[in-house]
Amino acid sequence: MTAPESLTDPESLRERALDALVTARDRTALLTSCVEEPELTAQHSPLMSPLVWDLAHIGNQEELWLLRAVAGREPMRPEIDGLYDAFEHPRAERPTLPLLPPEEARRYAADVRGRALDVLESSTLRGTRLTEAGFAFGMIAQHEQQHDETMLITHQLRRGPAALTAPDPVAGPPFTGPAEVLVPGGPFTMGTSAEPWSLDNERPAHQRVVPAFHIDTTPVTNAAYQAFIEDGGYQDARWWAPGGWDHIREHAIGAPLYWRREGGQWLRRRFGVTEVVPPDEPVLHVCWYEADAYARWAGRRLPTEAEWEKAARHDPVSGRSTRYPWGDADPTPEHANLGQRHLRPAPAGSYPAGASPLGVRQLIGDVWEWTASDFEPYPGFAPFPYKEYSEVFFGSEHKVLRGGSFAVDPVACRGTFRNWDYPIRRQIFSGFRTARDGAA
Ligand code: AVJ
Ligand code: FE
Repeated sequence: MTAPESLTDPESLRERALDALVTARDRTALLTSCVEEPELTAQHSPLMSPLVWDLAHIGNQEELWLLRAVAGREPMRPEIDGLYDAFEHPRAERPTLPLLPPEEARRYAADVRGRALDVLESSTLRGTRLTEAGFAFGMIAQHEQQHDETMLITHQLRRGPAALTAPDPVAGPPFTGPAEVLVPGGPFTMGTSAEPWSLDNERPAHQRVVPAFHIDTTPVTNAAYQAFIEDGGYQDARWWAPGGWDHIREHAIGAPLYWRREGGQWLRRRFGVTEVVPPDEPVLHVCWYEADAYARWAGRRLPTEAEWEKAARHDPVSGRSTRYPWGDADPTPEHANLGQRHLRPAPAGSYPAGASPLGVRQLIGDVWEWTASDFEPYPGFAPFPYKEYSEVFFGSEHKVLRGGSFAVDPVACRGTFRNWDYPIRRQIFSGFRTARDGAA
């Protein structure tokens, strides 16, 4: 990988880190100021923390890594560490904890931030693995952005009138390209050892041999998914993985989360507004079991994680793996729907400038894409800087999602970025595309 100069020069990295931290905090402020205080301390779903927990947890992680680990400072408020340790208290139990009230949580996070910016200014961004290339600062900006996505999920779960608004993506010409693309077989480089702010589970770069496969040019649309529903897909055990069949029976699931059938059409609730499900948009809020069942019904399958990354990063001309489908340049609004600029995915086939060399679109942004794969370490994986980011989640319980959603900031999104969740989860901004084996 030939990284742009801005990823190697310390002054550019300092600038990049400052910008990433400021961008994240602006978003956190928006997500925690657009509702009344009681809404910050309420639990909108047992799946999620109260927003005020995310807020102080963001500050606490920043204190742990940038003030204590990097700068060797003493704890500011040692008594609150336990409250904001995600492993000490499951989400459902967080509203009962003696959490910092909203104003205090804000002040704490701002206080930590002020000191962290001093640390950033005086750091050489060299020397230790934690500070090399500004890693710790990049990691903390990504952590805050991940919680901002978590808070946006909480906003979507919340009942009541809309608190957030955003312009819709500008509609381009309808997509008329081929439905799928053939990715030739052969080796490619998966993962990265060069991306300075890549997280431990993306490392190291290694060769994978991936046989030829076909992959959908765009994510599966609401219209295509409706055809599965209308064909009785949810009533036919043939399409479902065993655990999935039991799960949808037990919970009476018959459509994506937030959908309801009324007057002969499908409606959905999206950030406080009810609207007709748009047929040409990527399907959103489906669990892995639903994605897997749809693919089987369609005579296809989910792509493996390696297939997804090869489709997204392998340049068949140079043989190199790029940072993004379009090359090594950082994402712009022309490439992908990222950063909560919109509160929905763009129509399938959007963002021609973000296509891969083979013409696969929207691999980055719009919707997280379920893959067939369990979340496993790459050969040579080493936990860094803490086991609780990735290592404790490895295994067959979690499926990998790739590519990021409209709710993901560019700092936490790249061709190598890995997300994971339980196969029953669908409050996340999840969709999928399908694949099939190539000709032998
Ligand atoms: C990578 C999105 C699964 O939110 O549970 C946040 C990210 N890790 N704080 C999560 C994370 C620690 C993580 N995911
Ligand atoms: Fe966290």
